[in-house]
Amino acid sequence: SAGRRPLVAGNWKMNGTRSSLAVVESVRQGLTPELAERIDVLICPPSTLIASCVAAAYGSPIAIGGQNLHAKPNGAFTGSISAEMLSDLGARYVIVGHSERRAYHHETDDGVHAKALGARRAGLCGIICVGETKEEREQGRALDIVRAQLAIGVPKGATAADTVIAYEPVWAIGTGLTPTPKDIAEVHASLREMLDKLVGAEAEKIRIVYGGSVKPGNARELMSVENVDGALVGGASLVAEDFLGICAAY
Ligand code: G3P
Repeated sequence: SAGRRPLVAGNWKMNGTRSSLAVVESVRQGLTPELAERIDVLICPPSTLIASCVAAAYGSPIAIGGQNLHAKPNGAFTGSISAEMLSDLGARYVIVGHSERRAYHHETDDGVHAKALGARRAGLCGIICVGETKEEREQGRALDIVRAQLAIGVPKGATAADTVIAYEPVWAIGTGLTPTPKDIAEVHASLREMLDKLVGAEAEKIRIVYGGSVKPGNARELMSVENVDGALVGGASLVAEDFLGICAAY
């Protein structure tokens, strides 16, 4: 919408071994040139598979990304991976502040901000995730929560080249539940307005994608909502046919 090029991104989470490279191969085969002309397609495998996925996607329109990063470029941080390292492997995007990272690894909005800066420093596009819990929605606080997450998380001077926003209501992730199109429209419009406060005119260019139980069967309805510029897909991105079915919503 509004000239923004849709992004359909798969987040494999902690799933996949070398045999999963067949999924990349199938997506590559199934992605028609007409579709690849209209949308950006991204797969974010676990770090162990980034290099081999980059190789499997080489010469195709499929971009590969990371699921997380350390904010610093290098140092004594055992087990961590920096944006520079992801970029060195050929990754072009990285997910920042996914709700699972926030919930299980205590990531804060300030931490998300630092990681988004790290992504930009290394030339990666950061996909900054925001989203309310079920309780927060029931309390009528959804908009306040996601706006605050956005205001703190998004670095000053963010551009469409280095930033994508993903709205992922926590209660819709992996549950088969989705907000109504009206609720999604409300959140995305509110995020767009907040982005305008943060980065001015660039806000119109920054993509805001929706994530949470996106399937081939609901993709068309969800992707046609105003201000929804694509999808961040979990479970359905593990099956090439399903992921392609979601891409085909465009
Ligand atoms: O990052 C995508 C994710 O959290 C959504 O997961 O399985 O509900 O599509 P899923």
